[in-house]
Amino acid sequence: MALHPYFILLLLVQIPSLQFSSATEFVFNRFNSTDLLFFGNATLSSNILSLTAESSFSIGRVLYPTKIHTRSPNSTNLLPFSTSFIFSIARIKNTLPGHGLVFVFTPHTGIQGTSSAQHLGLFNWTNNGDHNNHVFGIEFDVFKNQEFNDINENHVGVDVNSLTSLAAEPAGYWSDKKEGSFEDLVLNNGVNYQVWIDYLNFQLSVTMAPAGKKKPRKALLNVSIDLSEVFLDEMYVGFGAATGRLVESHRILGWSFSNSNVYVGELLKTSNLPLFVPRGKFVFGSSGFIAGIVGGIVFVLVFIVCISLFLVKKKRRQKRLREDMEEWELEYWPHRIDYQDINVATKRFSEENVIGFGGNGKVYKGVVGGAEVAVKQFAHESEEGVREFLAEVSSLGRLKHRNLVGLRGWCKREKGNLILVYDYMENGSLDKKVFECEESFILNWEDRLRVLKDVAAGILYLHEGWEARVLHRDIKASNVLLDKDMNGRLGDFGLARMHGHGEMASTTRVIGTVGYMAPEIVRNGRASAQTDVFGFGVLVLEVVCGRRPIEDGMPHLVDWVWGLMEQGKLGDALDKRLKTKGGCDGEEVERVLHLGLLCAYPEPNSRPTIRQVVKLLEGNSDTVESESDSMEAYMLDKAKTTAMWYKYRRSFHHKKHPTLDEIRSSLSSSMSLPWSDIMVEGR
Ligand SMILES: *[C@@H]1O[C@H](CO)[C@@H](O)[C@H](O)[C@H]1NC(C)=O
Ligand SMILES: *[C@@H]1O[C@H](CO)[C@@H](O)[C@H](O)[C@H]1NC(C)=O
Ligand SMILES: *[C@@H]1O[C@H](CO)[C@@H](O)[C@H](O)[C@H]1NC(C)=O
Ligand SMILES: *[C@@H]1O[C@H](CO)[C@@H](O)[C@H](O)[C@H]1NC(C)=O
Ligand SMILES: *[C@@H]1O[C@H](CO)[C@@H](O)[C@H](O)[C@H]1NC(C)=O
Repeated sequence: MALHPYFILLLLVQIPSLQFSSATEFVFNRFNSTDLLFFGNATLSSNILSLTAESSFSIGRVLYPTKIHTRSPNSTNLLPFSTSFIFSIARIKNTLPGHGLVFVFTPHTGIQGTSSAQHLGLFNWTNNGDHNNHVFGIEFDVFKNQEFNDINENHVGVDVNSLTSLAAEPAGYWSDKKEGSFEDLVLNNGVNYQVWIDYLNFQLSVTMAPAGKKKPRKALLNVSIDLSEVFLDEMYVGFGAATGRLVESHRILGWSFSNSNVYVGELLKTSNLPLFVPRGKFVFGSSGFIAGIVGGIVFVLVFIVCISLFLVKKKRRQKRLREDMEEWELEYWPHRIDYQDINVATKRFSEENVIGFGGNGKVYKGVVGGAEVAVKQFAHESEEGVREFLAEVSSLGRLKHRNLVGLRGWCKREKGNLILVYDYMENGSLDKKVFECEESFILNWEDRLRVLKDVAAGILYLHEGWEARVLHRDIKASNVLLDKDMNGRLGDFGLARMHGHGEMASTTRVIGTVGYMAPEIVRNGRASAQTDVFGFGVLVLEVVCGRRPIEDGMPHLVDWVWGLMEQGKLGDALDKRLKTKGGCDGEEVERVLHLGLLCAYPEPNSRPTIRQVVKLLEGNSDTVESESDSMEAYMLDKAKTTAMWYKYRRSFHHKKHPTLDEIRSSLSSSMSLPWSDIMVEGR
């Protein structure tokens, strides 16, 4: 097809305004740093836009340098617009991919008011859903966020002032050839896709197809929408993207835009474009058309044969997900364990092998590779849950410490059902040795104190001993296990989330157990190192008092111990059964109780760090030395100041510890999360 000379001119340079002053048309087949405005981590490399850095929690935005008109002069009628661009979202080897890119109309430059991860560099917690945003976007989102009612982890959505899309469809296109046949596309397999977005007479259509294909006649999304309230008279237009803990690259290879009747969508160069399809296994994931691009039909045939054999052999159901796993299997410890091996190890999950309950079901004992193991099942409601979880497990499996329960491996059985294999702990969980247990088996004071020191050392390792801070989030007696030498080991990292040092943890899911949750968790849902310290404080009190934090007809354990301290009867808090056993020093008991109360202090910043706690606990063995240590003396002094407890009482005068439902509804409203995303364990 021969091009009209005028169009050839368009191809070469950015087009000056043509018909009237409010018209903007441009075609970028190569980008140049003077063409656009760059914000956040967006950069230009080899004339291609890279919207995000290949690092976690990156945000980038690129805008056309001048505002464009959305209305004709002296008119309230919206101008139609038509834009087309080519993007590539590619996984980076060995990381899970997230989160997506957005074509955006916005009144402002810069990235203020936006967050990374699920907010796609478009909004943040506060302004999401606000009508004053005047932001319109088309999102290409590769993560399913329940809080925004995302339909799946690979969708295209229309966003008006909110990440909850007005309309969304799974990525793909309607074939022109076969009537009614829909071809799925994987947004983040690195393939170059062309997108067409057209707005005319209040009708918005979004169409996408692999670059090089003709624009499909039927749009992917075709919705009636009045943008006159959303669009200010002049708006910036461009692209944004974000990564979270999950990372992928977001690139724009070409872009055309017009708000006049000049149709520039066909002027994008769609062939001989650079390719960003990752090498290695990910290539397999993106089926069909890659073949053409990759070339070498023989290779492709060999690949297909290999894949088919593999498919048959492994009976892979969740193809894409499983490929993630194989990637890890090669690169990460702990290794995936074959389901058959686990089945054999636990004698087909027989009742006689049940050693307890945890996670979302029974815990079985078994022998894998000659070692005794505990096998725990977890059910996640969604595929994403499993993906996130595995991302975490791949790192958590590398945590090794004498006071942590070792994770040996994992296995995914079917959709949403995970099995974790831990080292077997001969002496079961701490709660069994402190509460509800025959008196002769009960732990004596020395053992209890030693186990508390072990747990504190385990938490210290999680918080500070590793390149990233790991929060446990669910410290309680039933998560402390005793090995054959009666060493305390902290278990159940299934609930922990990882965070870079110095970064405030935030998550869309709130985790914890009623009775062990710090007051600020109940208020804002944010876990931190201090909330773990709070959990440890409650653990100290329950282990010393031999009482669960919440018991019928009793005040919350923390309140109860304060009460006794205020009355000068702190010694009465000690587990009665220990008194008969003897062998504990009253002063030492009081010091440990003070420490527990200090850790469970309501104001997070007044709690000691776990490092200080470890020092304090160690100091107990040598009173004289600890008195001379000014930090410890200060801490203990602070703990003993009764004024502090009154302050606590004032701030909590309504007092009663919140119930499970109260916690959920408080979190649900303060975090604008759907009820179902708030996971709180009853005990
Ligand atoms: C970018 O384009 C402008 C004109 O559009 C030109 O003057 C400039 O030299 C170009 N810069 C580079 C680095 O290519
Ligand atoms: C991304 O941007 C942030 C904030 O501007 C900056 O701290 C960080 O270093 C950038 N990352 C890279 C890889 O450029
Ligand atoms: C728009 O209105 C201004 C004054 O209100 C006038 O000067 C201008 O000529 C008008 N433009 C058109 C295109 O009607
Ligand atoms: C969101 O952005 C607005 C505007 O920049 C800012 O005032 C607000 O504090 C931000 N909220 C969060 C949670 O970052
Ligand atoms: C969108 O829908 C309208 C009517 O509902 C139809 O006329 C139009 O052809 C559709 N556009 C596309 C691109 O599918």
